[in-house]
Amino acid sequence: MALPSEFMQELRLRSDISQVVSGYVNLHRRGKISVGLCPFHGEKTPSFTVYPATESFYCFGCGVGGDVVSFIMRIENLDYIDAVKLLAQRAGLEMPQESSYDDSMQRLRLRVLEANREAARFFHSQLHTPQGKAGLEYLHGRQLSDGTIRSFGLGFAPDSWRSLTNHLLDKGFNSSELVQANLAMQSKKGDIYDRFRNRVMFPIIDTRGNVIAFGGRIMTDEKPKYLNTSDTVAFKKSNNLFALNRAKNSKSDKLILCEGYMDVIALHQAGFDFAVATLGTSLTSEQAVVIKRYTNTVVICYDSDEAGQKATARAIEILRRAGLDIHVLTIPDGKDPDEFIKKHGDSGAYRFRMLLENSGNDLEYKLTKLKEKYDMNTADGRAKYVNAAAVLLAGVRNSIQRDVYIGELAHEYNVTTESVERTVNYELRKRAKASKKDEFANAQKQLTNEGLAPIAGQRITGALRVVRAEEALIAYLVNNPDMAGKVTQSLPPQKFVTEFNRRVYSEVTSRILNGESAMLMDISPEFSAEEISRIAKILSNYNVDIATPKACMEYVDIILEESNKMTPKEITATMSNEEINRYFKWLGQAKKSKRKPN
Ligand code: CTP
Ligand code: MN
Repeated sequence: MALPSEFMQELRLRSDISQVVSGYVNLHRRGKISVGLCPFHGEKTPSFTVYPATESFYCFGCGVGGDVVSFIMRIENLDYIDAVKLLAQRAGLEMPQESSYDDSMQRLRLRVLEANREAARFFHSQLHTPQGKAGLEYLHGRQLSDGTIRSFGLGFAPDSWRSLTNHLLDKGFNSSELVQANLAMQSKKGDIYDRFRNRVMFPIIDTRGNVIAFGGRIMTDEKPKYLNTSDTVAFKKSNNLFALNRAKNSKSDKLILCEGYMDVIALHQAGFDFAVATLGTSLTSEQAVVIKRYTNTVVICYDSDEAGQKATARAIEILRRAGLDIHVLTIPDGKDPDEFIKKHGDSGAYRFRMLLENSGNDLEYKLTKLKEKYDMNTADGRAKYVNAAAVLLAGVRNSIQRDVYIGELAHEYNVTTESVERTVNYELRKRAKASKKDEFANAQKQLTNEGLAPIAGQRITGALRVVRAEEALIAYLVNNPDMAGKVTQSLPPQKFVTEFNRRVYSEVTSRILNGESAMLMDISPEFSAEEISRIAKILSNYNVDIATPKACMEYVDIILEESNKMTPKEITATMSNEEINRYFKWLGQAKKSKRKPN
């Protein structure tokens, strides 16, 4: 159910986008717009832009954009209703009656979080019961102190089918809530039973202190070794990191990224309170963005086995894209950080600190890995290595940094700087050529995405021209709604050649003609998050200062002209059945009215 439009208008007027965004991003005014570092992807130069005129934002770096509500949805990780609630609360505006919108998701989410919190308490308390003794002994056996066990809230799930389930039912939770929380499973007969049994339990806590999930470790060699909460309404594993709730308060300006829960806990116990881990999956770009909110430097500290090294290579790319500086700590002996620290007993923490201080950056790590592939005892092997290393150095963006490494490589292997440079430059030219090709392929792909697949080579320019005119027209109308009447008289939506722009145009013009407002925030409930970014991009490309009613009518002419060049078949290729019917009906009327002189 949609929220009442008077309420939304009031909210829109009271939620100034620049002001709301300033709560999260340090914005700098540049004329009529403001810019800052994008909170949705890591970057060092600002490409995140706020447009007060269209009440929208857009980031040229990552392509995310939207209105004030979609900003809050993304940054606070909320759904639509919750984002509106938050803004309403800040604006001192009372939410309309509950019956006028659907609040059930939010209520379920709160229940799941409450159930998780109660479950964490239950698991922890089990450690001090006879049936939980094995769990406590296991944790002690892994050399965790009582203090560590308490501060991480570790616990034990008894070897029973109904202990947690019964406990939570007694506390007033219902079966459905327990299943939705993924704390219980439902049998074919419909009974529910505990999902975690006979495992030591690691609660996963978000940065606001909510218990959002659990990892449970079996105490033997059985499989699966760990069982984790699947995604629920309150938890998405690709967005969260284990122990970030603690690491975010660390005095260190770095984060250590490990593979496992136990690695993180052992590191915290040894004084490295800035360690975090992914949650049983490999690192995602969302997690990298989360990390970037808290630090600029990540030390990857994965297992030193082959799987760990592969994962390191992947993580480097993902963290780089998020704009993070990367160090790689390789454990020399022992498999993972936990085992390393344990193995060295009292000197474990000291030795780990040494490793941390000596960890090289990602490029040095890659060079070391590369070296392992060649026989460095032969001249041939060394020559091949220097070549391959030069290719790697071509990937270094910063030219000063690149020059330093070129110099060092040349020096180390007793070759001239010029010859290394030649290889690097050759590689750079090759890459530049490849990216030009990519650009053309992208234009073609863009048109294909617009549904314009049948358009052949020489007509690509025309097609791109009309797509741009469609976008400019949409932006113009959002800014100048009073032109909508005139425009729609000559340009029915059917003349739009791209499906997406046609939908946006229909939505915008029909609202305006109904006397309603058609800002991005008004139309956004009709579109997905990705589509909203796309509309925000359209609005951001538009320059308020140069647009005139004359330009607006020129856009209309371009669209008419180009779509007249297209066959009905080409145009309808991008339409739904319903739209096709409307199109032919309109075409019939248009022909008739042409014949009639007026
Ligand atoms: N993991 C998982 N499911 C599995 C195995 C592993 O979710 N069946 C995740 C867990 O988050 C685990 C991490 O991957 O912490 C690393 O796995 P692994 O290296 O096998 O375990 P360790 O962390 O070393 O755990 P332990 O020391 O308890 O053996
Ligand atoms: Mn381990």
